[in-house]
Amino acid sequence: MTNPTKIPFLDLVIPHQELQEELLGVVKNVFSNAGFIGGPMVESFEREFADFCNAKYCIGVNSGTDALRFAFMAAGVRSGDVIITVPNTFIATTEAITQAGGQIVFVDIHEQTYTMDPERLREYLETKCEIDGASKSLVERKSRRRVAGIVPVHLYGQTADMDPILEMAKKYGLFVIEDACQAHGAEYFSKKENAWRRAGSMGKAAAFSFYPGKNLGACGEGGAVTTNDEAFAQQVKMIRDHGQAKKYYHDMEGYNGRLDAIQAGWLSVKLRHLAKWNESRRALAHRYHDLLAEANGAVVTPLEASWTRSVYHLYVVRVQDREALQAYLAEAGIGSGIHYPIPLHLQKAYQHLGHKKGDFPVTERFAAEIVSLPMFPGLTNGQQE
Ligand SMILES: Cc1ncc(COP(=O)(O)O)c(C=O)c1O
Repeated sequence: MTNPTKIPFLDLVIPHQELQEELLGVVKNVFSNAGFIGGPMVESFEREFADFCNAKYCIGVNSGTDALRFAFMAAGVRSGDVIITVPNTFIATTEAITQAGGQIVFVDIHEQTYTMDPERLREYLETKCEIDGASKSLVERKSRRRVAGIVPVHLYGQTADMDPILEMAKKYGLFVIEDACQAHGAEYFSKKENAWRRAGSMGKAAAFSFYPGKNLGACGEGGAVTTNDEAFAQQVKMIRDHGQAKKYYHDMEGYNGRLDAIQAGWLSVKLRHLAKWNESRRALAHRYHDLLAEANGAVVTPLEASWTRSVYHLYVVRVQDREALQAYLAEAGIGSGIHYPIPLHLQKAYQHLGHKKGDFPVTERFAAEIVSLPMFPGLTNGQQE
C-alpha cells in the first residue's frame, strides 16, 4: 500500500488559509451591495491584470477555454479556417479552435523548450500552404482551407519563441493568439525589439486561465483575454455577454461567459502576491536543477532558454523509466503528475484528424518520459530534497 501523500504535488490549502481574512473581506463587500455580476470589482481586476501583463486591455471571462474561444471568434475565424497549434498542450486549446469553427493543424514542439518549434511551423507554412490566387490569402494546398492563425502555447510557465512566430504570422497575414493559460507573468526577450515582453502582450490577443491550480488561480473558474487592440477588446466584451454592448440590444449571438465579481475580487487580492509567488517558483526550480544535477543526466531537467523567464507553473523532468519513478515517489508519499500522457493527435477525440504514431515525434517521445514534480510557492527546501 502506498503512503497517504506527505508532500503534495500542489498545496492549495495553505495559501488560502494565509489570505483568509482578505478573501472573506471580498465576500462581505460583495454581500453588502449584491453586485455579483460585472461592476467595479471586475473592472478593477481587469485594469490590474492588464497592467500586470503590460497589455492595454483585459476582459475577464468564465474560464481559459472561454478566453481562447472568444479570442478566436473576435479574430474573425470562419468555419473551416485552419488554426495551427501544438499537440503537447491541454485539450482546451484545441477544443476552443473547433468550437470557434476552426480546423486544428498541429506542428511539433522544440526538443529543448517543449513549446512550438518555429522551424516546424515554417516547414508547414512553406511546404503545405500557398497564397491563393483569387483570395490572395494563405490556404492549405491540399484542402484549400484558409489558414487564419497560430496559437503558440506558453507551456509549463515558459513562453514560446515568439519573434520567429510573429514574423511568419506577419509575412502571411495570420493572427497570433497566445495560449498563456500556464504563464501568468512569464517573459520573453524579443531580439527584434531588444526588450523583455510579458506573456499576454505579444500576440493579437492572449488567453489566461484562473483555474485554481494556476500561478494566479481563482477560487473556482475564471479566465481572461488580454489585448492591445481596443476594437478586439470590445468584441470580446460583447461575445462574453450575449453579444450585447447595451443591455438587451444584441448585435450578435454571444455566450454567458462573464467573470463574476467575487472571483474578480479574490483574483485582485491574489494578484498582489503573484510576483513574489513567481519568484519563489523560480528559486525552487533553480534549486531543483542543482539537486537533480547529482543524477548525472538520468533526470533531464527543463531548459530555461536565454530568451525566456519562466514562471514554472510546472516543473517537468524527463526520465527513461517513468513508471518506476512515479511508483517510487508515490511509495515515499510524494505527489507527481504527467502533463500530458497522450499527445492530442493520438487522443480518441481527434481520431477523425487521421494522425498516426510518428507524426509528431518530439511530442510523442516526451509524452512517454515526462514527470511533473511538486511545485508551489510554499514548497520547503526539506521537502524538495
Ligand atoms: C494550456 C492551457 N490552455 C487552456 C486551458 C483552459 O483553461 P480553463 O481550465 O480555465 O478553461 C488550460 C487550463 O488547464 C491550459 O493549461
